[in-house]
Amino acid sequence: MNKHSEQKSLSRQLCRLGSALGVVCLTASSIQAAEVTVMAYEEGEPISSDLVGVFFEDLNYAADGGIYAELVQNRSFQYSPTEQPDWHPLKFWDVEQRGGGRGSVNVADMRPIHDNNSFYTLLTVDAPGDGVGLANGGFDGIPLKAGENYNASFWAYQAFMGVMWGRGDNRQPMPVTLRLETKDGEVLAEASFEVKGRDWTQHSAKLTPTKTVNDARLVLLAHAQGGICLDMISLFPERTFKNRPNGLRADIAQAIADIKPRFVRFPGGCLVHGQGIHKYYDWKDSVGPVEQRKSARNSWGYDQTMGFGYFEFFQYCEDIGALPLPVVAAGVSCQHSGSSPNRGQEGLPMDEMDDYIQDVLDLIEWANGPADSEWGAVRAAAGHPEPFGLKYLGVGNEDAITPVFKERFKMISDALKEKHPEITVIGTVGPFADGADYDNGWEFSNELELEMVDEHYYVSPQWFWDNLDRYDNYDRSKAKVYVGEYAAHDQGKRNTLRAAIAEAAGLTSYERNGDIVHFASYAPLLARRGHTQWTPDMIYFSATEVFLSPNYYVQQLFGQNAGDTVLNASVNVEEGKKLTASAVRDTESGNLILKLVNGEDSAMKVDVSLAGIPGVSMKTVRTVLTGPSADAENEDGKTPAVQPKSETVTLETSFSYDAPANSLTVFRFQL
Ligand code: AHR
Repeated sequence: MNKHSEQKSLSRQLCRLGSALGVVCLTASSIQAAEVTVMAYEEGEPISSDLVGVFFEDLNYAADGGIYAELVQNRSFQYSPTEQPDWHPLKFWDVEQRGGGRGSVNVADMRPIHDNNSFYTLLTVDAPGDGVGLANGGFDGIPLKAGENYNASFWAYQAFMGVMWGRGDNRQPMPVTLRLETKDGEVLAEASFEVKGRDWTQHSAKLTPTKTVNDARLVLLAHAQGGICLDMISLFPERTFKNRPNGLRADIAQAIADIKPRFVRFPGGCLVHGQGIHKYYDWKDSVGPVEQRKSARNSWGYDQTMGFGYFEFFQYCEDIGALPLPVVAAGVSCQHSGSSPNRGQEGLPMDEMDDYIQDVLDLIEWANGPADSEWGAVRAAAGHPEPFGLKYLGVGNEDAITPVFKERFKMISDALKEKHPEITVIGTVGPFADGADYDNGWEFSNELELEMVDEHYYVSPQWFWDNLDRYDNYDRSKAKVYVGEYAAHDQGKRNTLRAAIAEAAGLTSYERNGDIVHFASYAPLLARRGHTQWTPDMIYFSATEVFLSPNYYVQQLFGQNAGDTVLNASVNVEEGKKLTASAVRDTESGNLILKLVNGEDSAMKVDVSLAGIPGVSMKTVRTVLTGPSADAENEDGKTPAVQPKSETVTLETSFSYDAPANSLTVFRFQL
């Protein structure tokens, strides 16, 4: 280390310490104001410009019934009692016999569309009346907007049993209607089809409802004697995010995009390794034509269609300019899965490990390989011949660091290192901020010389304030840190302003240590109201609305005001007072950005000075996130108690600022 960098490093340590702890230079009685001094003349230290990202996991109906825009629930009749006792393939479907119509609906599996999609229905019409068929009310009712287009589709073929069973010659095409109806049966849109032939064929039409309703049903009716087989009965809004087919709900996808996340972690979480040894998320089940994907009960107890699969995830990342950060299982199941006496972590049998490792290598080929490679061709067939440019891969999630885990993890990471040294493997160090798995995970990662590890913690707001110096003393020669899941859980786990502000404080410490804290993602990201299995979450939604929490706005302010260089910033404040700051420079805009967090219940007068910049007036965008009290939260999302407010002001290089109680203030100085 040369003298210059030695000095820089010493000053970095001192200022980190100062910022984290609040330098105690003054006595309590003499303190009228706190002081924040940014060494604005310094070049600063490079930090990760990809710090803020998002963690996506299909829990709380985040994917199906959530961001995935499919409006039909159980479109492929795959709900099976083998997965959950009260499930059956016709769950969420009603059999309709209209105006004297008579017939039946049976579940079949003799001639499926694809082996991954084993069940379908056989609709038999004995007397057509006004129609015999099926109706689906989606996820708590289908929301429709008058005048908007919806893409409706179904797969079908003719069952010629009419001739054999003396029910008339049904080789005549079967007339079918597909309708959007209110729950009282009023028809809002309708399309007609003819089903003919013995091959599975997709039929589709645009439906434009005449009314806005939130509890519609999609109804398919057959109108002649005979039979048809049906599968994949589906309805999407035409207007998905970026108008992608098989796409995402535009409002939710946009809310995430508005954070400006630099990466998206996918598919979780616990869902990665699954509840039981062969229950891990198999990425191969999530790519290719949707009718060929394997839907299954997920770790969170509901059906996961895989419609929002790896392709849609990578495409979304590309659409919003985020890095894809997939996570695969480390060849072990969740240590909390199974039931007594078989509860605990299980490793894949050794004779299955080669195939499993090949699957992991295939994922990289699928993402990055040429379009004429085996798996690159699957990506290309989905409409993306260009490689996606995958750079990071997480292996394992919060696993217990046992010999079974270590053996399998090492096999996977060795294979990745050998075949794909260009990929950064992210290891796992347990579910907590400390403890045996954390210690053993770090020790193991150091042994393997991993480049990055994934830390998780769900802790109290006070914990964030008490641990602002956590990363200051991490060994810079070891793995970088991905804070892959974190959140402040405040008394009863609500989305309080107190919790959000504590997370903002934590983020200042990540930013100050952005040379080693490379990524950070709040968790969980999404929750559907009425199906929320974990609280707090960042973004809540109903069938038609999105509700943004205070925690969301913290992520958004850090995401939208990221930098690539950290500047030393010292904070002088009375010992024990919750005030912290971080200062970064964004090379692209040339802006200097100061984030100031006041976690006290009263306002604090802060003297801010940008040291070394000649006394100039600076055009500054000042954004303040605060609320009426530390307990404030955004109950209904329509009258948010906590929302950032921005104004453009002119500031001198030294100024006084009254930091509101429980606030995050972002100063974006346009130098
Ligand atoms: O974020 C919810 C869960 O918390 C994740 O699935 C798991 O990794 C963690 O324990």
